[in-house]
Amino acid sequence: MKGFVFFTIILFQLSISSSSISSEANNGFSVDLIHRNSPLSPFYNPSLNHSEYIINAAFRSISRVKSFNFTPPQNKADQTIATENRGDYLMQIFIGTPPKKIIAVADTGSDLTWVQCRPCNNCYFQNFPLFDPSKSYTHRVIPCTRPTCNYLFIHSCGVTGECIYGVEYEDESYSKGYLSTDTISFNNTYIGRIIKYSSITLGCGYNNYGSFTPTAEGIVGLGGGPLSLITQIGYQFDKRKFSYCFLPYNSRRTGQIKFGFDTQKNRRGLVTTPLVAKFPSTFYYISLERISVNERTFRPEANETVGNFVMDSGTTITQLKFDLFIKLKASIILSIGKKFVFERNPPKPFDLCYKYGVVRYFPRVSFYFANAAYGLHFSEANVFGRVGPFMCLFILPTYDGHSILGNYQQVFFNVEYDLDKRTVSFAPSDCK
Ligand SMILES: *[C@@H]1O[C@H](CO)[C@@H](O)[C@H](O)[C@H]1NC(C)=O
Ligand SMILES: *[C@@H]1O[C@H](CO)[C@@H](O)[C@H](O)[C@H]1NC(C)=O
Ligand SMILES: *[C@@H]1O[C@H](CO)[C@@H](O)[C@H](O)[C@H]1NC(C)=O
Repeated sequence: MKGFVFFTIILFQLSISSSSISSEANNGFSVDLIHRNSPLSPFYNPSLNHSEYIINAAFRSISRVKSFNFTPPQNKADQTIATENRGDYLMQIFIGTPPKKIIAVADTGSDLTWVQCRPCNNCYFQNFPLFDPSKSYTHRVIPCTRPTCNYLFIHSCGVTGECIYGVEYEDESYSKGYLSTDTISFNNTYIGRIIKYSSITLGCGYNNYGSFTPTAEGIVGLGGGPLSLITQIGYQFDKRKFSYCFLPYNSRRTGQIKFGFDTQKNRRGLVTTPLVAKFPSTFYYISLERISVNERTFRPEANETVGNFVMDSGTTITQLKFDLFIKLKASIILSIGKKFVFERNPPKPFDLCYKYGVVRYFPRVSFYFANAAYGLHFSEANVFGRVGPFMCLFILPTYDGHSILGNYQQVFFNVEYDLDKRTVSFAPSDCK
């Protein structure tokens, strides 16, 4: 009897310790996500009204999508895309030891995580002191002889043999810096404790010229390429997945970005679609098969359905390839009905607008992705909104190779990227 009790206690203790070990090892973490124009953001600009915000966001979306380069270079090596800080949703990270707090853009459209560093030849203005790598004793410069350096599209050797990266943008902005490793930490909102990842490859920017917005201090690269944060740390929580839930830009709540958690369990109307492997691996490509506007349905060209759509957290307004956009616009006009006349000179860059208050019911727009049981049904607020005296369609045409799903259309969806199962899933959510 004594032996039995003793044995049970041991088993009990074993089960406690093993479960606490597995929760340390398997569990991911969660970080608050805020829009840079939300009242909670340090970059909140209360004088910007809704029309100005959405018009600026639409122009930024167009220039961002233009800067995406989908054409393979000569050597088809899997390379890293870095991007400038035009993005909308911000998260807090800590870099170095001791940790320095950085507010960075969460960006699924680029890989390299980078911050502006001291000393800086040419940094854009930021509201916080620059990260000083000389004050971080875990900071290591990566030599240009390392294979890691070859993951960068544009790279070279610096005067002391450091790996230099360069990024150039469509509008002649550029960013230059060197590659290094350091500890990145996050304030895990699940347990209110700092979680650390050591020796993460990141960029230290010291020459950033052009149209950078003086908002975030850097970028968290969440793309699918070899140097992205999720690629680097995913194996440490044994589920290579992350998810986010975007709140509207003017929300007074915080959303969340979660790493290593199953977030879609027991959700209704789950839309799950395969990721398509395409060059470059940075982008998350999915396949849009059909769009419906109320009962009207249309499809992309038959030769352009596989991997025709790119998920992007950094683009605000969704852009559809021109032929699809034309069909969308025509279907919306037909659904709304001829007795309502659309505006001949809509506010640029919007394409379809009606006088505010005239149209009572806007049609339901849904996107249908490959293998998904349900359509992605947008709310009216995802698709139509006010611009001055008009109600406009918040989707724009693109003349480039891919359609892009922007963050405005992802608001109030929980979106999960599962890089092991190679799927993206969407479910309506209140982001709580
Ligand atoms: C928004 O701001 C612009 C420029 O300051 C102004 O022209 C416009 O009337 C404002 N709109 C509203 C709805 O206040
Ligand atoms: C981490 O977040 C908690 C609240 O969730 C906060 O009290 C704490 O100060 C944060 N730690 C740091 C270092 O910012
Ligand atoms: C698909 O076919 C159309 C003509 O039917 C052509 O214009 C377009 O370039 C093709 N797209 C691709 C990706 O081959």
